[in-house]
Amino acid sequence: MTSRIAILISGRGSNMLALADAIERGEIPRAELALVISDHAHAHGLTHAHTRGIETLVIEREGRTRDAHDTEIIRALEAHDIHFICLAGYMRLLSPSFINAFPNRILNIHPSLLPAFPGLHAQRQALDYGVKVTGCTVHFVDEGLDSGAIIAQTCVPVLDDDTEETLSARILAEEHKLYPRALKQIIDAKFEMQDRRIRL
Ligand code: GAR
Repeated sequence: MTSRIAILISGRGSNMLALADAIERGEIPRAELALVISDHAHAHGLTHAHTRGIETLVIEREGRTRDAHDTEIIRALEAHDIHFICLAGYMRLLSPSFINAFPNRILNIHPSLLPAFPGLHAQRQALDYGVKVTGCTVHFVDEGLDSGAIIAQTCVPVLDDDTEETLSARILAEEHKLYPRALKQIIDAKFEMQDRRIRL
């Protein structure tokens, strides 16, 4: 069976493209990228998705409560028969009704080794803290902030002369490899979950 995937973005969309490329190259054989949704009309990622011929939807967050916004997104996802949802730089917490509508079927990527440095500016938080190693995490989404069960992580070194930009670029290169790999494992259902421990 092919799993229909939706990707939610708010901005640049480079992780969305990495997933789209991996699917196009046949690296996630049982996946089909069915829909990209942005909560901002001007998200750059939308242009890239258009160029690839991927169906896009803009569901603006502005002027809507989180519940009303999420209800509209859930409706679109159901109308498109979506099985898995990948958040890729989607900068809004999901409401409980959204999470409950897709149990263990919403993934997110975050630019740190969670549980360290959740929330915004994870790379800056890592530099400010002075850690020597950071990285990226793919996890299931729950009601908390970057707090769901961890699916996969990759480490990257923090170098003495790193700036937020150089560190972000090093992490991003790993995000683009990690996210497709993690999605494939989840789609293949090659995992066991005990409490919040996932064994792939
Ligand atoms: C990525 O680094 C992603 O990990 C991060 O935003 C960037 C989006 O880039 N997400 C978060 O910080 C979520 N807490 P992209 O739009 O080019 O994929």
